[in-house]
Amino acid sequence: MDSKLRFDGKVAIVTGAGGGLGKAYALLFGSRGAKVVVNDLGGSKKGEGSSSKLADQVVEEIRSAGGTAVANYDSVEDGDKIVKTALDNFGRVDIVVNNAGILRDRSFARISDTDWDLIQRVHLRGSFMVTRAAFPIMKEQKFGRIIMTASTSGIYGNFGQANYGAAKLGLLGLSNTVAIEGRKYNIHCNTIAPVGGTRLTEGILPPDLFDQLKPEYVAPLVAWLCHEDCEDTGGLFEAAGGWYGKYRWERTQGHFCRKYIEEEVTPEAVRDSWEKITDFTDAYHPASNHEDTGILAAGLQDLKPWKEIQAKPASATGAV
Ligand code: NAI
Repeated sequence: MDSKLRFDGKVAIVTGAGGGLGKAYALLFGSRGAKVVVNDLGGSKKGEGSSSKLADQVVEEIRSAGGTAVANYDSVEDGDKIVKTALDNFGRVDIVVNNAGILRDRSFARISDTDWDLIQRVHLRGSFMVTRAAFPIMKEQKFGRIIMTASTSGIYGNFGQANYGAAKLGLLGLSNTVAIEGRKYNIHCNTIAPVGGTRLTEGILPPDLFDQLKPEYVAPLVAWLCHEDCEDTGGLFEAAGGWYGKYRWERTQGHFCRKYIEEEVTPEAVRDSWEKITDFTDAYHPASNHEDTGILAAGLQDLKPWKEIQAKPASATGAV
């Protein structure tokens, strides 16, 4: 397993690659043989203004290290233009890393329409626009690797980040279905929740942690997930400081609050069964919609008509 992971012949789009995490991804792809589209709008961390400077600097860095890269300065909201830059310059798109992002933190009651809309537009709609433009090309090639960027602020919530958290977990929902629809074309889609010392986290992360959590520590996970040898798709991974982990869903066994088919269920029955409903002993880890509803369907099949229950002695019904 010591052969170096290379991306020769592959074309990678990294959005928001002018700084922070995206820059680290772009530099790594560039150093491993990929042709890179360095996209960056070049605005402030709140999403104001624009400049070509950030993307140009990263392109220059890749080229001076012997790599191949072009800049694109469009907003991810114009995803088709970013994909067009890849096609015009390199003729294909193999990898899309949806990374561009901004913050407009406000406590929930103070979120303005602009704070809400801009966050959804850049993170969720932007990732959709870039991915939708690249998907048919990947389908044709029968190869594609896509990354969505979520956040623990979406997974767990975080004070002042309702707008951002909603968009970030929306990206997981988007990724889950893109992974399902892409599978038969060898298009993989995974989501990462990174932590890195960047302009977004400056002043939020304590200084010693900030220095430890270099963006370069997140990049190797992104590179592996985007490599043709990696078979994972539909996953959610966390990455920070050289540590990587994977998430999965856990669901309680749950509890049927009715024993027979015609029985009505009352709020009191839910209350009285609360301990069983929320008991994680022997929890399931369903990995798909199908698996989840399969478990439910099996439980429904066990429900009997009232007549049948009545015919049995009380001890045999198991009713509580
Ligand atoms: P950053 O601010 O250093 O980099 C983001 C880049 O995206 C900037 O260069 C910016 O100009 C660009 N950008 C912003 N809006 C754009 C648009 N509409 N179109 C094209 N480019 C645009 O931020 P950082 O920390 O590197 O974040 C990268 C991604 O990781 C973001 O999606 C962020 O939400 C996410 N993230 C970062 C965490 C961290 O600890 N740094 C934690 C969790 C998630």
